[in-house]
Amino acid sequence: MRLVLMGGSLRPQSLNGRLLRHLARELEGRGHEVAAFGGRALRMPLYEDGLAPAEETRALSEALQGAQGLVIVSPEYNAGIPGHLKNAVDWLSTLKPSPWPGLPVLLCAASPGAFGGARGLMAWRATLANMGALALPESLTVPHADQQLDEDGRPVEARTAALVPRLLDGFLSLAARLRP
Ligand SMILES: Cc1cc2nc3c(=O)[nH]c(=O)nc-3n(C[C@H](O)[C@H](O)[C@H](O)COP(=O)(O)O)c2cc1C
Repeated sequence: MRLVLMGGSLRPQSLNGRLLRHLARELEGRGHEVAAFGGRALRMPLYEDGLAPAEETRALSEALQGAQGLVIVSPEYNAGIPGHLKNAVDWLSTLKPSPWPGLPVLLCAASPGAFGGARGLMAWRATLANMGALALPESLTVPHADQQLDEDGRPVEARTAALVPRLLDGFLSLAARLRP
């Protein structure tokens, strides 16, 4: 399948970026074609009516047009979606055709905090539902991610580690049914 991953913060040491790279490797290992967008690829000008979309925006939009699913790996800022990711979502939603309607999405988050970014994912669900994207009901959260992700972004806590392949299976099966 053709899959896009998007997320992480803009800082090079991003825990979410590390988790994203681990999930990208897992999906590639299963034989899927993966395009990952993080860091500089998400540095877009703030959305403004009349402003032409930046090269980064067009690249992400094109990748999503051909994708069968999207994995979002999002930090939680003040219990919500970080500005750079919300800005990317808003830009994409203004393009024609918008990539969002019917797009299968897997939501993931990592945080040094005890909730693992779960509250931010609730904000993501509201935004995705508004745009007509179809988020898998289950999601991946990694609490205490500064201790619970190894150098390669693999969750070290047994329950979370076991959840990753189950979630990917669920997401891939949803995406295959919606976008064969
Ligand atoms: C502006 C701001 C707001 C934050 N709000 C939250 C929050 O609501 N919940 C949380 O768990 N962590 C919060 N954090 C801490 C982030 O989870 C932490 O910085 C995390 O490492 C960010 O993800 P990253 O490692 O991918 O950059 C916040 C950080 C910033 C900079």
